Amino acid sequence: MKILVTGGLGYIGSHTVVELINNNHQVIIVDNLINSNLEVLNKINKITANNPIFYEIDVTNEEKLEPVFREQKIDGVIHFAGLKAVGESVLKPLDYYYNNVLSTIVLARICVKYKVNKFVFSSSATVYGDQPSPLREDMELMKTTNPYGETKAISERILTDTNYANKDFAVSLLRYFNPIGAHGSGLIGENPKGIPNNLMPYITKVASGVLEKLKIYGNDYDTVDGTGVRDYIHVVDLAKGHVKAIENLHSGVNIYNLGTGRGTSVLELVNTFIKINNINVPYEIVERRQGDIATCYADPSKAEKELGWTATMGIEDMVRDAWRFERNNI
Ligand code: NAD
Ligand code: UD1
Repeated sequence: MKILVTGGLGYIGSHTVVELINNNHQVIIVDNLINSNLEVLNKINKITANNPIFYEIDVTNEEKLEPVFREQKIDGVIHFAGLKAVGESVLKPLDYYYNNVLSTIVLARICVKYKVNKFVFSSSATVYGDQPSPLREDMELMKTTNPYGETKAISERILTDTNYANKDFAVSLLRYFNPIGAHGSGLIGENPKGIPNNLMPYITKVASGVLEKLKIYGNDYDTVDGTGVRDYIHVVDLAKGHVKAIENLHSGVNIYNLGTGRGTSVLELVNTFIKINNINVPYEIVERRQGDIATCYADPSKAEKELGWTATMGIEDMVRDAWRFERNNI
């Protein structure tokens, strides 16, 4: 298939581009580089010996995006482009609603117009809110706790309504749990600008000495050791889930959890990182972070049953690959 990947130079997008190429798909990347770097294109080329077509375009710009659909005969889209920092979304809600919601509307409008009937969307486990894990796709969604999460819930709704009105327009809503790790080559990975908000990039910055100490947000949750429990998934497993999702997308609105089904606490992740990489990560326990929940992990059985996809890599692989990427990029 010829697949247009928005946000294809970002963290998850770039890994997905590699897996699409590995599976003989032709890839067209659209990215405005707001949170990525053109250098990633060279890295993709190094890994795959393939040069995907690249357009530097803002997906919210319908006038600039539409010609891409006239120039290329596109079979399907995977829509990663979006802003993703939860804290920033609270401070800049209009930027988040504008970018994340408008990009979904613009892309879906053009897809309907050009009869591009396969649409895969990057959603998040955050749409489930605070409900008991394991989380299942048929659970009712709870009120989201921040504008970022709301943009995901709204985009899911927009795409569902678009499918209702245009039955040929097939949608896959992929709810990611916590993607971490990096490509085994060490060439692409997560490289957030500024001080990271998420756990894994914070750990690697502390391990490399860029940041002094990890703050663990609370050890009084009702979990195995009191620290927060999440379903960490290797980004390459996640990327492979996208290939399966677009290859098996036939009709309707299809919702899938992309997670491992296993919960890992903050302390377990930090200690595994220290052990596998043989490097110290100083940490201290501090107050809980506002908006955090105790436990969040997936029931991934629907994706396994319907897509034939299951995550294969464990925490050890994730911490090893995250550290290899960090060392290559210090
Ligand atoms: P990322 O920031 O690394 O990648 C997003 C890419 O989209 C970047 O390259 C950025 O430059 C581009 N972009 C943003 N707005 C754009 C626009 N208007 N037009 C064109 N390009 C634009 O983030 P990521 O971690 O790879 O996340 C990808 C998607 O997955 C996002 O939609 C994110 O919300 C979602 N998601 C991520 C996580 C996670 O933990 N990383 C979890 C759940 C969902
Ligand atoms: C967060 C977002 C979620 C988003 C996801 C990926 C919130 C409430 N949720 O998920 O919407 O989809 O990122 O971008 O922000 N932790 C520490 N110290 C740190 C950082 C994190 O102890 O410096 C702990 C957290 O308390 C949590 C776990 O590590 O228990 C994972 O945190 P994080 O990586 O930020 O992901 P989530 O909060 O699960």
